[in-house]
Amino acid sequence: MQKFDFTNKVAVVTGGGGGIGRAVSLKLAEAGAKVVIVDISEDAGMVTVNQITTQGGEAIFIQTDVTKEEDIQNYVQTTIDRYGKIDIFLNNAGWEGKISSLVDYPTEEFDRVMSINVRGVFLGLKYVMPYMIAQKSGAIVNTASAAGLQGTPNLAAYGASKHAVLGLTKTAGFEGAIHGIRVNAVCPGPVNTEMMCSIERGFGKGDPEAALISRKAMAVKTPTGRYAKPEEIANLMMYLVSDFSTHIIGQQFVIDGGLILT
Ligand SMILES: NC(=O)c1ccc[n+]([C@@H]2O[C@H](COP(=O)([O-])OP(=O)(O)OC[C@H]3O[C@@H](n4cnc5c(N)ncnc54)[C@H](O)[C@@H]3O)[C@@H](O)[C@H]2O)c1
Repeated sequence: MQKFDFTNKVAVVTGGGGGIGRAVSLKLAEAGAKVVIVDISEDAGMVTVNQITTQGGEAIFIQTDVTKEEDIQNYVQTTIDRYGKIDIFLNNAGWEGKISSLVDYPTEEFDRVMSINVRGVFLGLKYVMPYMIAQKSGAIVNTASAAGLQGTPNLAAYGASKHAVLGLTKTAGFEGAIHGIRVNAVCPGPVNTEMMCSIERGFGKGDPEAALISRKAMAVKTPTGRYAKPEEIANLMMYLVSDFSTHIIGQQFVIDGGLILT
């Protein structure tokens, strides 16, 4: 059986301290890539770096707020200074924002969610792609969501932001293709990470019992009866940045245990 081989590849993973980002970073490192972990949380990012180095892999951490243009320029430039190229880019950092009906949704919260999930993804593409264009190769996966494909009550900003990520994916896919760059998106349903715990707490309005009920309700709606494991999303990302997917461009891949079919 053929295996993923990313020997001598350089990968940048935003949100690399989070559930999905950590899972894909560990897999990339295990397959031979040098991994640059980008996250706003130094503690979380360093946990990923330490797990990779303990397993004999290579990783560095660059603290970044993806809403800040100078921070994005810094992680791109630091990666280039250190490794000379970026082969793989997981544009993955994200934030769920508040759980609230649209009419009650605080405007400043809307702006913050859009800033992390859309501006952050846009800036990542804007500053990473020129290096990939120069080297005439590169693979990018933007993390969207099933919430980018359908209406999601009480997550107005999050849903809007993930629809926008798919729009950016299509433009970047189109523009990147002639330069040998492939840009695609993944659209996970609920995944067992801190983000879903936070969403459950939001639906539970601070009551742990209600949060648990909300988790069970969401899991029961899914044909597989459970949330995805972060590693399952990471497996799809690995395929999309590998040479097994060389003719796939500008696409969005739902990975939700069949939830969208219900
Ligand atoms: N968990 C799910 O159910 C789910 C479903 C669909 C899509 N997603 C998407 O997957 C991606 C990863 O989420 P996750 O589930 O691993 O959640 P997570 O909360 O475990 O990880 C998110 C990471 O992003 C980082 N981050 C947040 N704001 C940032 C900022 N301004 N700058 C830099 N880093 C920042 C956090 O510190 C965290 O490490 C997100 O884009 C999320 O929207 C998650």
